[in-house]
Amino acid sequence: MQGKGYDAFAQDYFQPIFPAYAHKIIERTGVKTGRLLDLGSGGGHLGFALMDLGEFDDVTFFDKQSKCLEQARERAEALMYDLDACHYEEGDACDLSRFESESFDLVVSRGSMHFWDSPEKAMREVHRVLKQGGYCYIGGGVGATNRQTSRMDAIMDRMAKEYGVGHGGSPEQQSEKRKEARTRQCKEFAALFHELNCSYALINSKAEGGWFIFCKDDDLKIW
Ligand SMILES: C[S@@+](CC[C@H](N)C(=O)[O-])C[C@H]1O[C@@H](n2cnc3c(N)ncnc32)[C@H](O)[C@@H]1O
Repeated sequence: MQGKGYDAFAQDYFQPIFPAYAHKIIERTGVKTGRLLDLGSGGGHLGFALMDLGEFDDVTFFDKQSKCLEQARERAEALMYDLDACHYEEGDACDLSRFESESFDLVVSRGSMHFWDSPEKAMREVHRVLKQGGYCYIGGGVGATNRQTSRMDAIMDRMAKEYGVGHGGSPEQQSEKRKEARTRQCKEFAALFHELNCSYALINSKAEGGWFIFCKDDDLKIW
């Protein structure tokens, strides 16, 4: 999926989902201050939505494609965000070595993980750069929350045609396939989260899509 085309799609059609997800993220993690990292940020919609709702000191937009970071930068300027609080880093989510350990309070990522070569490696990196007690909220989907499902299905259909997204079958079949894949992946991640002493949870529903959430402190509850 090319950066510019997706950004227009996110801006025109997905726009309402970002404040809805940002609200859920803050509600569930309780994190709304400190330093925020948006991995595979694209044009930065989720990071900006979290900046709007929370009181974060700053946000780092991290993406493999420079043009996506350029879109995020233009968006920050156009929407008059505090430019000193917005940082941009080009790189691979599986290698966060440029960041010191314990740098971030919250790491989020939407719609990017399934492109990563090794999600497990990325999770380990995210764990390293999280502060003690920090949260990670990674996943995807558009969810049906706050929207009419039929309209969202039509949008996903159009996206499949225009951008080659989707793996065939009806929207229901595709949704079921994604749900099964996430359940399998969660079983694989469970061993990793135990090894890292993290409390964790999986959201796996049509309403919200699929999200892996973990906290770098096994004493803390997810919610
Ligand atoms: C579908 S877009 C999602 C963008 C944004 N997070 C959103 O919710 O609208 C996927 C993004 O992941 C980025 N990406 C893919 N593989 C990546 C990787 N290995 N490391 C960092 N970013 C990656 C792409 O460049 C793209 O911007």
